[in-house]
Parts: sequence; C-alpha cells; structure tokens
Amino acid sequence: MINININTPEANLELEALLDYLKHSRGCDLTGYKRSSLMRRLQYRMRCININSYQSYQQYLHSEPDELPALLNEFLIKVTSFFRDHHAWDYLATEIIPKIITSKQTDEPIRVWSAGCATGQEIYSCLILLAEALGIESCLKRVKCFATDADQAAIRQAQQGIYTATQIIGIPPALQEKYFQDTNEGYVFHSKLRRRIIFCCHDLTWDAPMSKIDLLICRNVLIYFNLKAQQSILVRFHFALEKTGFLFMGKAEAIITRRQLFPPVSFKQHVYAKGLNLEIEDYFSLITRGKSRLFKD
Ligand SMILES: C[S@@+](CC[C@H](N)C(=O)[O-])C[C@H]1O[C@@H](n2cnc3c(N)ncnc32)[C@H](O)[C@@H]1O
Repeated sequence: MINININTPEANLELEALLDYLKHSRGCDLTGYKRSSLMRRLQYRMRCININSYQSYQQYLHSEPDELPALLNEFLIKVTSFFRDHHAWDYLATEIIPKIITSKQTDEPIRVWSAGCATGQEIYSCLILLAEALGIESCLKRVKCFATDADQAAIRQAQQGIYTATQIIGIPPALQEKYFQDTNEGYVFHSKLRRRIIFCCHDLTWDAPMSKIDLLICRNVLIYFNLKAQQSILVRFHFALEKTGFLFMGKAEAIITRRQLFPPVSFKQHVYAKGLNLEIEDYFSLITRGKSRLFKD
C-alpha cells in the first residue's frame, strides 16, 4: 500500500493549500467537514491513484477533470432507507405530525424540508405519514415539500421516485400497496403526491435556507461537519422554521447549543422545537460571525 506522508508541518501546509485551491479555484468548500473524515477521504482517493502527497494530488485535480466528481463522491455518503430508525418515525407519526396539523387552520399549507435527502427515501417516508394523517386529497392540497442535497446525481434519482423491491422493504406492506405502483422499471411512488415535492441541488453550508417550514428533517448529515459548520447550518435552520416548527435529526446527532434556540421535544427521538425569536439582522450576524454567544453554554 502506498505510504502517504501526512503528519509533517509541510504536509499540513500542503493540505491547507489544497483546501484553499478547492474552495477558491474549484468552488468546492470542504473546510466545514470534520478534519478526520476529510483526511480519510482525501487519502482514500490519493491511494486509488497512487499519489502520496497533497501537493501532487492538487496537481492531479488540476489536470484530470474526472477527479473532482470522484472526490466529491467520497464526501457525499448516500446511505439511506425508508423509515430509517423506525421508532423515531413512529414518534413523528404519533406525536409531531398531529401537533403540526392541529396548530393550523384546515386550509393552511404545511411545509416540509428534507435537507440532505440523498436518494429521496426520507421525504417519501414523511409524505406517506402526512398523507395517512390528512388523507391523500387534503395532503395534495395542503402539503408542499422541499427535498435538497448537495449531490446532483442523488437528487436526480430522488426525483424519479423509483425503487427496487429491496429498497421498499422497510415500508409496511399496506403502505407499499397504497403508495407505490409495481412497474417494469421498479416500484414507482404515487405520482400526484410526488409532484408535491420540489427537488433541488442545495449545499447546506453555502446556499440560502428555505423558509416558513413546519417540519425540517435533517438526519445523518450534520455528523459529517465540524462544530463551526454545524452551528452555522443550525442558524440557517432556525431561520427556515416557522415559530411552531420542528427539527427532526438523526440517531447519532445532538444539538450542541443553548436550549433556548432549539429546545428539545424528545431527546430520545432527536426532535427539537424552534425556540427564541430572532430578528433578521441577528441571523446575518450569527452566520457571518460564525461561533456566537448562542452556542456557548
Ligand atoms: C448519510 S446521507 C443521509 C440521508 C438521509 N438524510 C437519511 O438520514 O437517511 C447524507 C447526505 O448528506 C448529503 N450532504 C453532505 N454534505 C452536504 C452539504 N454540504 N449540503 C447538502 N447535503 C449534503 C450527502 O450528499 C448525503 O446524501
């Protein structure tokens, strides 16, 4: 196996130069990812092409157009499934979705954002629960979803809403029957409901957040980011949520912030409410200043 020299001051400088090159010359900012996984993934790519220094890797990236997509593919880990961690989804169905519905007039819209949706299983799971709670007709009238991810290929796949028999195993058979059509291409999600979802490529560390969201699902995404990037994303999420909105996170994730910003609704199921009211200028200063008093306990 090729030996990569990574623990010298020179290697550290080369790594910084490489990250700087990616950010400023290639429009690809990887600095928000945790340092350990950043290095692991870079080194994996370097081993694949027999390169043993960050400097040579930067030259390779410059000369080989296919390398940047290959590198990004290493970062954008797309593991997902329908109703992943089903206890948390049961909690969402029995405790949170009814709260969202009763907090609104019967003709008011309900807005959901799945951020880091990968190949779409998460947003379709949520739409199934909403359709079960509201009835399909009312769901078609009232629910609007946004499903975003930094990975363009994943978004394209999500948009199709076509899954294999193995991929839909996590869905109870009655719901499979009701929400999927068995076709030659695979199991296709209910087409009218699918049209309630807007899919788009969106980088959580960079792009403007959605707004007026009642339920923001961001599961198994923040774990890849360092604390500073997590905090800046959480400020954006706070902005995105309605006053009565909820944030649903992954099993291995916790919010490291003052409780006033996102008071927990259930620590166990990783559901948080929107706390504190902030003014628009507070958001700007929180995002531009990065770490803020709100994140110090
Ligand atoms: C492990 S998957 C989680 C999928 C789904 N949320 C779930 O829990 O089943 C992580 C997703 O985060 C996306 N991701 C990583 N960095 C991102 C970023 N900066 N902006 C938006 N999405 C990102 C990846 O492309 C990937 O689809």
